[in-house]
Amino acid sequence: MVKESGLPREELFITTKAGLDYFDLMLIHWPMQDDLGTYRVLEEAYQAGKLRSIGVSNSNRAQLGEITANFQTVPVVDQIETCVLRQQTKLHQYLADHQIVHEAWSPLGEGAGRLFNHPVLKDLAAKYDHTTAQVMLRYLTQRQIMVIPRSTNPAHMAANINIFDFALTAADLARVQALDEKFSLSGWPSSMTLDEDY
Ligand SMILES: NC(=O)c1ccc[n+]([C@@H]2O[C@H](COP(=O)([O-])OP(=O)(O)OC[C@H]3O[C@@H](n4cnc5c(N)ncnc54)[C@H](OP(=O)(O)O)[C@@H]3O)[C@@H](O)[C@H]2O)c1
Repeated sequence: MVKESGLPREELFITTKAGLDYFDLMLIHWPMQDDLGTYRVLEEAYQAGKLRSIGVSNSNRAQLGEITANFQTVPVVDQIETCVLRQQTKLHQYLADHQIVHEAWSPLGEGAGRLFNHPVLKDLAAKYDHTTAQVMLRYLTQRQIMVIPRSTNPAHMAANINIFDFALTAADLARVQALDEKFSLSGWPSSMTLDEDY
């Protein structure tokens, strides 16, 4: 599909796909038995120019600390479960301190009605004339968190991109921050619950 599109390679940012000369970003999906060995292979591929950048997912501070202590190449990103009910504030600060991008998986809480019907979010959606999904995504981006919402609905896809024509005030940011329950919708991976955020 990438080749068929006819788009110049340099105009695309690809995390993983096959049949290309290089990948823009490759992640370790979650820490397993030989994390340092896995990261070493990624770093070698990065140094050989096969990967433009490398990162991790579902890694807590101890696991990130192991990597930064043992390698020259700091992960560019840690992709972790994050939504307004699980904001990961302590890990976020660690990531910011180490110039690692905090990327949110399930930024809409997997579409859970509990979020979409939350009275505070509905109130803010009405105030800013946007949807609750847009308020959630805008909140996260204002907190310097990268979001990767998934949708099969074209109208939702368009809405999820169009979040930069409004901004929550400091008071409204605080209202959403107060929704943090440190609650994991997935309960996975268990190593993330070992972090001090819990
Ligand atoms: N690294 C990891 O371990 C990990 C784990 C889980 C997920 N992920 C990644 O994270 C990404 C997203 O996570 P996710 O799919 O679990 O959850 P999500 O993006 O939080 O939620 C997706 C759900 O939200 C709905 N939705 C999306 N936009 C909407 C909108 N504007 N209004 C109303 N509903 C909307 C979707 O339904 P519609 O299709 O109807 O829009 C879908 O049911 C995926 O790319 C996934 O691969 C990574």
